[in-house]
Amino acid sequence: MRLIVLGPPGAGKGTQSKRLEDVYGIVQLSTGDMLRSEVASGSPLGRQAGDVMEAGDLVSDELMIAMIASRIDHEDVSANGFVLDGFPRTAPQAEALDVMLADKGIAVDKVIAFEVDAEEMVTRITGRYTCSRCGFGYHDELQKPQREGLCDRCGGTDFVRRADDTAETVRSRLKTYEEQTAPIIDYYRQQGALCSVDGMAGIDDVTGQLKEILG
Ligand code: AP5
Repeated sequence: MRLIVLGPPGAGKGTQSKRLEDVYGIVQLSTGDMLRSEVASGSPLGRQAGDVMEAGDLVSDELMIAMIASRIDHEDVSANGFVLDGFPRTAPQAEALDVMLADKGIAVDKVIAFEVDAEEMVTRITGRYTCSRCGFGYHDELQKPQREGLCDRCGGTDFVRRADDTAETVRSRLKTYEEQTAPIIDYYRQQGALCSVDGMAGIDDVTGQLKEILG
């Protein structure tokens, strides 16, 4: 199964992609997570990307396309399929992805847009934290672990918050999304690949909507 999830920051793309990994055995390809690993490692790419991310802007298309092109060829991804989370984010990235997949003779099965109320996303993101071992997402109020301090998914006890999850940066990321990413929803609608879910519903409900679409 090969999927793309689209939606503004905080829409639930990462939360649901992790669940899709568990349900369908596909691999989450999160460009945000890949960039954050580069930043944490202090690599030249990470140093370049860190400032851009903290400002809520987009890293260059050229770099992002190269990053996905190299990851999509890994054996785990070819064998199990993928859910692209955070890519494509601009028209050039969407077009490059089409070329990349056509070269391999494969296609995306579904593009799923998360429909949400943008104002609510600031609350979601400023309360977000994730398990540093497995990346499972939580929220101070909306999604607490079943046992405090213990990850439901892997039992990890260490959690992290993102540097770009401040209210100010979230507003800038939402603006960037509206200007550069929202237009690609129409690109996929025209290709007939687009479905949507109500991302304002509860987390389990959204997972249910996805399972209904994906079977
Ligand atoms: P990235 O990491 O992709 O961030 P994003 O797109 O801004 O998305 P988020 O991860 O913030 O939101 P999400 O939809 O995954 O929400 P989540 O599930 O965590 O990108 C970061 C940066 O990297 C970009 O700004 C850019 O600079 C750069 N970048 C990345 N990819 C790029 C690309 N392709 N090109 C250029 N630059 C790129 O949920 C949020 C919170 O809400 C959680 O706490 C969760 O528990 C809670 N929640 C989730 N769903 C629900 C629900 N249904 N009800 C209640 N609470 C919920």
